[in-house]
Amino acid sequence: MTREKLRIGLFGYGCVGQGLHDVLNSSNGFKADIVKICVKDRAKKRRIPMTNFTYDKNDILNDPSINLVVELIDDAAEAFSIVSTAMKSGKNVVSANKMMVAKHFKELVELQKKYNVSLLYEASAGASIPIIRNLEEYYDNELLYSLRGILNGTTNYILTKMHNEGIPYSEALKGAQEKGFAESDPTLDVEGWDAKYKLCIITGHAYGLFLDPEEVFHYGINKVSEFDVKYAREKGFKIKLVPYVGKTNDNTITSFVLPRFISPDKYLYNVDNEYNGVIAEAAFADKQFFCGKGAGGHATGSAVLSDISANSYGYRYEYKKYQQGTVSNYTRQHKIEIYLRYNDEKEKDLFGFEEVSEYFCGRFYKYVIGVVNLEKLYSLRKQLPLLDVFIVNTGRKINSQKGADKEIQEEQI
Ligand code: HSE
Repeated sequence: MTREKLRIGLFGYGCVGQGLHDVLNSSNGFKADIVKICVKDRAKKRRIPMTNFTYDKNDILNDPSINLVVELIDDAAEAFSIVSTAMKSGKNVVSANKMMVAKHFKELVELQKKYNVSLLYEASAGASIPIIRNLEEYYDNELLYSLRGILNGTTNYILTKMHNEGIPYSEALKGAQEKGFAESDPTLDVEGWDAKYKLCIITGHAYGLFLDPEEVFHYGINKVSEFDVKYAREKGFKIKLVPYVGKTNDNTITSFVLPRFISPDKYLYNVDNEYNGVIAEAAFADKQFFCGKGAGGHATGSAVLSDISANSYGYRYEYKKYQQGTVSNYTRQHKIEIYLRYNDEKEKDLFGFEEVSEYFCGRFYKYVIGVVNLEKLYSLRKQLPLLDVFIVNTGRKINSQKGADKEIQEEQI
């Protein structure tokens, strides 16, 4: 296959932009010219000559010699404006912007078709882990039961530092920011938004449903306390932030983002620091586990480079599961067993526990373990940040058969 000569217009020269630059410069086999780099901050000192930069996006968007736009900025609304304008003028695009892709997923898929251009965004979910291309190419005919994993490097770094080294939350977050893992607005990481956007992108390729992120329940780690970490450690667990999407029946899926207890026999237990991991459970391939660096300039830059290279061969996502259309429904009618650490009985009662298997009332904190409905958690989503609670999915599976009692079992992965 012949490769098209790429002339790149790059938007953004932050952590990922510079990472891409390094990765491109060190790549022997592949050459592409970065013609211009558009940035917004005029005062910032740059490590390459200023002649490489422009502050006017039209210098790239209106340059007919530029055939690939690489978008690596952190403002999702501005990114969408740049990406859609580029696509409408016939330019292919590579992006790492998870919030932009998740919020405009369907529209971006339609723009690709209408303007006969390609948009690749492997770096947007799991950074260096090639999960999107695997879902597109390898699992195109697989019956995927579920995907779960760690998709946010910042929260994994924080939880690892708290668990392994007893470092306080705020100090661990500062470390993640200094290392360039966190978003410019780290609430996107710690409140679980970032993991949810990535989950929505993965869901589009795994099941062909382009979910509105607003419809998906997410809960982060910003309320985790030393009691929760201590509780987990005493039981031999680690806490990880784990997005999940899976089938509830042949044509219906459910999904959510929740902290989860992970026991040492699980794949995710040793996925520490900024590493991400994704577990696919499928009918024929059975269980598969992908692991790699999920944040940081070079790890993310490597995925962007891979997309740039794929683009030069004319690669496009075909959205095979969307074309097949076998999954058509989304539900939040799904039971989850949770650990709820709380203070006030009234706040606990809001959760509508259907059954409780463990209850503890100590001097400093109380907790309860029991089954709740995902729909109920979703209905509380605006109140949750105001409550003095922390929620963790115990990860135990609830099998309810008609006419039989619910059975709660250890999950195998
Ligand atoms: N802030 C993100 C993370 C960067 O920590 O995972 C990679 O998407």
